[in-house]
Amino acid sequence: MKHSFPKTTAGLILFMLFSFVINTSAQKISVNNLTVEHLTNPLSVDHPHPRFSWKIVSEIKNTSQASYEIRLGNTASFSKKALWNVDQKGDESVLVAYNGPELSSKTKYFWQVRVKDNHGNTSAWSPVQYFQTGLKASDWTAKWIAVEGRDSSLASPLFRKDFEVKKTIRSATAYITAKGLYEAHINGKKLGNHYFAPGWTSYKNHLQYQVYDVTKSFNKGENTIGVILGNGWYKGRIGFNNQHDFYGDTRALLLQVEIEYTDGTKEVVNTDNSWKTANGPILSSNIYDGETYDARLEISGWDNIKFKETASWKPVSILENGTEKLVGMSGPTVSKHEEFKALKIFKTPAGETVVDFGQNLVGWVMLKAKGPSGTKITISHAEVLDKAGNFYTTNLRSAKQQNNYILKGEYEQVFEPHFTFQGFRYVKIQGFPGELKLEDLTAVAVYSDMNATGKFTTSNTLLNQLQHNIQWGQKGNFVDVPTDCPQRDERLGWTGDAQAFASTAAYNMDVPGFFTKWLKDVSADQLPNGSVPFVVPNVISERDAGSSGWGDVATIIPWDMYVAYGDKGILEAQYGSMKKWVDYISSVAKDNLWNSGFHFGDWLFYRPNDDNDGRAAVTDKYMIAQTFYAHSTQMLLNAAKVLGKTEDVEKYSSLLEKIKKAYVSENMTENGKLASNTQTAYVLALQFDLLPENMRQQAAERLAQNVRDYGNHLTTGFLGTPYLCHVLSRFGHQDVAYDLLLQESYPSWLYPVKMGATTIWERWDGIKQDGSFQTADMNSFNHYAYGAIGDWMYKNIAGINPVSETPGYKAILISPKPGGNLTSASGELETVYGTVKSSWTIKDGVFKLDVTVPANAKATVILPKNSKKEEIGSGNYHFETKY
Ligand code: BGC
Repeated sequence: MKHSFPKTTAGLILFMLFSFVINTSAQKISVNNLTVEHLTNPLSVDHPHPRFSWKIVSEIKNTSQASYEIRLGNTASFSKKALWNVDQKGDESVLVAYNGPELSSKTKYFWQVRVKDNHGNTSAWSPVQYFQTGLKASDWTAKWIAVEGRDSSLASPLFRKDFEVKKTIRSATAYITAKGLYEAHINGKKLGNHYFAPGWTSYKNHLQYQVYDVTKSFNKGENTIGVILGNGWYKGRIGFNNQHDFYGDTRALLLQVEIEYTDGTKEVVNTDNSWKTANGPILSSNIYDGETYDARLEISGWDNIKFKETASWKPVSILENGTEKLVGMSGPTVSKHEEFKALKIFKTPAGETVVDFGQNLVGWVMLKAKGPSGTKITISHAEVLDKAGNFYTTNLRSAKQQNNYILKGEYEQVFEPHFTFQGFRYVKIQGFPGELKLEDLTAVAVYSDMNATGKFTTSNTLLNQLQHNIQWGQKGNFVDVPTDCPQRDERLGWTGDAQAFASTAAYNMDVPGFFTKWLKDVSADQLPNGSVPFVVPNVISERDAGSSGWGDVATIIPWDMYVAYGDKGILEAQYGSMKKWVDYISSVAKDNLWNSGFHFGDWLFYRPNDDNDGRAAVTDKYMIAQTFYAHSTQMLLNAAKVLGKTEDVEKYSSLLEKIKKAYVSENMTENGKLASNTQTAYVLALQFDLLPENMRQQAAERLAQNVRDYGNHLTTGFLGTPYLCHVLSRFGHQDVAYDLLLQESYPSWLYPVKMGATTIWERWDGIKQDGSFQTADMNSFNHYAYGAIGDWMYKNIAGINPVSETPGYKAILISPKPGGNLTSASGELETVYGTVKSSWTIKDGVFKLDVTVPANAKATVILPKNSKKEEIGSGNYHFETKY
């Protein structure tokens, strides 16, 4: 809009008023939370058409975006002509794909957004954001370096290089990766705040590199880069059978620093044969067993300038490893989060010194210590104390989970490990010189950087603790890959566990980047015949693949992510893998029945010890397999519809019909009883719509009756549990669902809570009523799978539901269903459009609900005991109804 200056006083007043209206209207709407490929200002974007998202903040009800403008350029000021300018009508604000001129590699691009709303308001331009493109394989000029000779030591080698900066730096970027794990330092300071770089991927297929803006890290004059390598997943012990060197026996480093000077000239500092290597203080490290650090072997100043290399610094060897497998890091980094003070130091009956941090967490202990040179302090980690109050580690199986620090005797030092993590609530300290004090120890939680997106509270404190436990189960097991457990000699990307928990995970935290990265490995490690391994990255064996409920991760998580975040790109990227999995099942099925091969079944279902009455809830494994065959086909079909693959829609629709028919003739009597009369059997058949419509309600009655027959207890394992309450709610048994949820005796969700759990347990009875433990072979106290009830709690208690036809909570269904003894509940979810809130109270027969819908989204509200639908736009709303 153009204004010319008014010539009269009246004109001036009018003009001022007019400007005021324009200005205030401009402030009524703003844009924030700008991301590229789900990340804020990412530095290693490989995508040729990166996708931009933003959120709109507006005080005005019923606000939606009418149009948006994006500008993208090479400078933050947009002083030069923008490279890409879009001015587009429409309400698209999530994952809008770049479609300007081809992006160059290793280049920084700046961008910003401004939007118009449906009320005629225009926002200011957003703050300028940026992203940087990664290196192409041919951009790498650095060479892979390693120690000379065989890399046979478990110790961590140091690598260093001095170089000179002669001119003033305009910008400098470091690109680093390793075979193994690395920690990089420039002039004595650690680079970045993350751990376990380059992250765990299917290394044979791709290896991530990280990108650092190091413009401010260098001095004019002398500079030093130092890097430590650890064993990690690459070379350290991983998987079963004491397996080392799974991906390779030689750790290696690849580093390239690209410097641009203010005069426009460029220089590159690479790993090459000018680097030197020496042994350092880390004597051994691996993921399961911990780290041993001898401070006496520290080499003071090795990673800084003015260091004189002694004869112990040896030349490196150059490896002919290629760069074709390298990919820019696409998911979140892993870094430190919450810190926990030691709550109590005590002596156990066995006479050991043990410290309690009050929370089962994953990360490590930072220990302050000073003492005579050679003093060895050992920190052992445990999740629980036994019945007698002693430190209990038998459930860790062969994982030592032990960090050892050997003091050098000069001054107080703070020790923490570099290339390992532990799952623990308690630590045992041995060898501490003098009196151990609470302030000598701090536990720090380390996990992938995912923003917390969900909040859930109710009037029931046990339920609130359950929610806390679910969230901590997630934090502890989202350390770069989704793991089954974080403590024993396992810590693997078990696919069944991940598919069970993914939708709950997407309520609690921002996980699209985390799963996008991992799903690439699901595809990468998928076998040529389409079968999906039990664990991803697959470090066990190729034969260990193809179980129903596990392999189905290939179809379930992409769909879950699409629904939660509206990310069609995940479906596009995974479609081939989804299809291969379904086709694999078809290839082993006979007459449309999946009735062969190995299956884990309803893992860890309820089974009493001395089962004379036959109460064990055994569900036929092939019957389960058939339900997942149907479910995966349905997920594939959903994806095919979204992606407009009409031929596949036809093909798999007709397949799905056949699968369902085959299921019914194999597993259901004429009266509607299923071959296995278990909760899981009915739950899966109903959740995945396997039964003819006229047989569904009777099946739900059988399910409800089954729950009642067990005295309102669940009997489900990993596969039935996520859907149990969903099915009960859907078929009118909300009361039964609440009775299960609020059940406090074994087996139930609240039994572990009553037993003092601070995370979700692997088993319903990890600690039995008499205080004894379940079998130590498999008894983790931090396993997220049963935490899958979180999805039901957000959807039914808080009432916050996505709508798959308009994914990413563009349209929301708010439909709280109170029950049990709850008098209030409140849920909050930070969606890709902004914050959704739903909180309710029941008092004196009145149900009151407060709802918040973010701008550019809308909601349908259904109040309990009322089938009337209210359609609302963005803003805050209050509802009341008799209850
Ligand atoms: C893991 C699981 C996994 C299972 C396979 C266990 O050892 O901890 O959670 O899914 O094996 O059945």
